[in-house]
Amino acid sequence: MAFPDKVRLVEMSPRDGLQNEPGPIIATHIKTELIDRLADCGLNHIESASFVSPKWVPQMGDAADVMANIRRLPGVRYSVLTPNLKGFENALAAGVDEVAVFGAASETFSQKNINCSIAESLERFIPVMEAAKQHHIPVRGYVSTVLGCPYEGEITPEQVARVAKALAELGCYEISLGDTIGTGTPLKAKRMLEAVTAEVPIEKLAAHFHDTYGQALANLYAVLEEGVAVIDSSVAGLGGCPYAKGASGNVATEDVLYLLNGLGIETGVNLDKLVATGEWISTQLKRHNGSKVGQALGGNCK
Ligand code: HMG
Ligand code: MG
Repeated sequence: MAFPDKVRLVEMSPRDGLQNEPGPIIATHIKTELIDRLADCGLNHIESASFVSPKWVPQMGDAADVMANIRRLPGVRYSVLTPNLKGFENALAAGVDEVAVFGAASETFSQKNINCSIAESLERFIPVMEAAKQHHIPVRGYVSTVLGCPYEGEITPEQVARVAKALAELGCYEISLGDTIGTGTPLKAKRMLEAVTAEVPIEKLAAHFHDTYGQALANLYAVLEEGVAVIDSSVAGLGGCPYAKGASGNVATEDVLYLLNGLGIETGVNLDKLVATGEWISTQLKRHNGSKVGQALGGNCK
């Protein structure tokens, strides 16, 4: 067992958490207040928005306004998703600190989510990487469907390792491994990680586990044991991917923090403030959506 001493939490709720919310577009001021509250909790990496097509993901259509209206705390990275050069250019104009490209281990999911094959997606990321390098913007990479695909079912660890390696070779400083539909279990997570670490060093990997079947904390424990020290999570367990039917929330940041505190692993995040933030956003979303709120909140909604 080699638990890390410190874990960096990457907060997903403003992006992964809100992108799938049903109903009308959530007001920009709620999104910016959420981001500001999360920064006040001590979270120093917040995925804040997504510069994707608003036709594909309407909830993220106000990304530029969100970025213009957050209170930027020094030492906090406010990152965004950019699927292509157009997204990167819009993100750059909005003054982002960091961007992320997102691919998948499954061909079908890649087609459904970003409308191209895995190989085409990697080609599309090259100009984004080049432009980001020119502007000294760090790029994170995601691999989705690492422990199962909503369309293809089983995904082999080798499929994941291949895409993770390609993203690392393109210049992504970190690769986040997404269990998009939460079908993973601890042993499967370890096997997948073993294959990926044969290609990409563990220091460059993050775990991004959705909690559809209540396995996310167990899966995180399994990869923490192997030395993964970056975890993506979402306050109140908000989240889901619009192109992965049945994908419910990300693992709740409150639950991850409680686990890490219990293991004596440092994060710099205040649990009481985080719980209050989870309650605040849950109340806002209940008001916003009425009874529909349960569609997007994971089982861990506090
Ligand atoms: P496309 O339709 O193939 O794109 O979509 P296109 O290049 O043919 O352009 C079509 C139209 O979209 C054009 O406009 C473009 O200008 C516009 P029109 O001429 O028709 O008016 N367009 C854009 N507009 C704004 N921003 C852009 C952009 N690009 C093109 N960046 C595209 C391809 C990738 C754009 C589309 O499929 C898309 O936006 N997909 C995003 C899907 C998404 O956001 N999914 C959720 C995030 S991923 C996730 O949640 C998983 C993760 O959490 C990890 C995990 O859990 O596994 C990260
Ligand atoms: Mg996700």
